[in-house]
Amino acid sequence: MGKLRSQEWFGKEGKDGFIYRAWMKNQGIPHDEFEGKPVIGICNTWSELTPCNGHLRELAESVKKGVWEAGGFPLEFPVMSLGETLMKPTTMLYRNLASMDAEESIRANPIDGVVLLGGCDKTTPSIVMGACSVDLPTVFLSGGPMLAGKHKGKNIGTTDLWKFSEANRKGKLSQKEFVEIEAGMCRSNGHCAVMGTASTMACMVESLGITLPHNAAIPAADSRRKLLAHLTGRRIVDMVKEDVKLSKILTREAFENAIMVNAAIGGSTNFVVHLLAIAGRIGVPLDLNDFDKFSSDIPLLANLQPSGEFMMEDLYYAGGLPAVMKELNNLLHGKVLTVNGKTLGENIEMASCFDRNIIGRVDSPFKDDSGIVVVKGNLCPNGGIIKPSAATPALMQHKGKAFVFETIEEYKATINSPDLKVDETSVLILKNAGPKGYPGMPEVGNIGLPKKMLDQGVTDMVRISDGRMSGTAFGTVVLHVSPESALGGVFGLVKTGDLIELNVPDRKLTLHVSDEELELRRRDWEAPNLGVKRGYVQMYIDHVEQAHEGVDLDFLKGSSGSEVNRDSH
Ligand code: FES
Repeated sequence: MGKLRSQEWFGKEGKDGFIYRAWMKNQGIPHDEFEGKPVIGICNTWSELTPCNGHLRELAESVKKGVWEAGGFPLEFPVMSLGETLMKPTTMLYRNLASMDAEESIRANPIDGVVLLGGCDKTTPSIVMGACSVDLPTVFLSGGPMLAGKHKGKNIGTTDLWKFSEANRKGKLSQKEFVEIEAGMCRSNGHCAVMGTASTMACMVESLGITLPHNAAIPAADSRRKLLAHLTGRRIVDMVKEDVKLSKILTREAFENAIMVNAAIGGSTNFVVHLLAIAGRIGVPLDLNDFDKFSSDIPLLANLQPSGEFMMEDLYYAGGLPAVMKELNNLLHGKVLTVNGKTLGENIEMASCFDRNIIGRVDSPFKDDSGIVVVKGNLCPNGGIIKPSAATPALMQHKGKAFVFETIEEYKATINSPDLKVDETSVLILKNAGPKGYPGMPEVGNIGLPKKMLDQGVTDMVRISDGRMSGTAFGTVVLHVSPESALGGVFGLVKTGDLIELNVPDRKLTLHVSDEELELRRRDWEAPNLGVKRGYVQMYIDHVEQAHEGVDLDFLKGSSGSEVNRDSH
């Protein structure tokens, strides 16, 4: 083991060493803890305002036990937490801010290695992004999924929320029952129990190799989650001794693995912007086309909601993510290193599938086409994405007239009108939901269908937006259109009545309006007034990048490393 970074603080003599240690000792810490033990920072996104992460202080105690056992010195610290259900206007607005908090907290403190604790959607990518920009030995530990929700003897999950709310809107589900369902939906610790964004992120970090095996699916309420935390604590101490930094794990091959695995599990479309942002921080070249290239041949192997039937706990009982990855064995890069010191191939060698209703085989998958498809055309020169496994096959090739909502507020105010000039062939366009235009790129892309169409029994329509959609949502929805409407690209010029053609097999999204007409419209186009003049949000608007680049702030790309050469004592 080389010289520990933490000794630049705790190993000092004289006044500086005194200051660095003395105040720490008010926590009852014996002097020998400062004498050359690896200091492990436990970066915790716990918050009572992030209920999915409400148990992470408990989990941190298990990590600490492991750290102590292995001869390390654990120190837990809080960072900004992003609670998906409560934060307004959208947690995505704050992902980059939270990443800055994690990055600076790690770098500024006497830390040799880090355990990152996250769970709810954005808490995972934000702290991974921050940690990548410091690049210390790092292990991620997810909080784990909730147990399946229960209502009237049946499993329910977040995906069902959309169905319950549509039924409630149509008067087929009483308000009393709707409220009763609330109590059964989230009945244990943990994040959303379906393959939504949080579970997608938990699978992403496992498939990238920055967690111990089985991180993705062990339920939060299962004692094996605490065991995993304990083992994570032990392992990070050895990683510091072996100097296994994040950049040794997060190679281009690891990112390609993550894209393939995300397709096999039917992961959330949010995966795209988060993986791009993480790649940008660690310095691995990755672009939007890679998501199509590495996922288009991958079938759906995990029968999990919203693409399938089951919940995350079922995935664990059936063999967990290692068993899914084993099915992809011939496609994945098996030689990449993971944080337990073994290769991915070694980790999945012993994995077994215990239930073929939940984990399929490549030659008998649940769906043939999974993954993320990237569409391009004059409507989205830099791309838009669609998740075919959540869409209606008959709409994969579709021509229809646009019906434009300029904002989500306009949509909400008019969607229930019986006079809305739409039919089942209409293409619903939602503008000003992009990174700058909203601002924050909210999960509104899967706008619900007009009540008029629901009353006619229509279950899906093509929808196109520069926003995102919840990982628990479904439908024929083109998302992340880039450039976004607020930048004055072609998407900002679409008018109600324009003909739009979606052709997923050909990867095309076309607006059938002449270039001359678009030029005339461009002359009249005015940028939306975002009404922000100060603070973080202004900085975000000034610097946020487009969806196809990962929605990071331009000045946060890359790494500043872990060196701090000045101090103020
Ligand atoms: Fe936190 Fe779904 S709301 S993971």
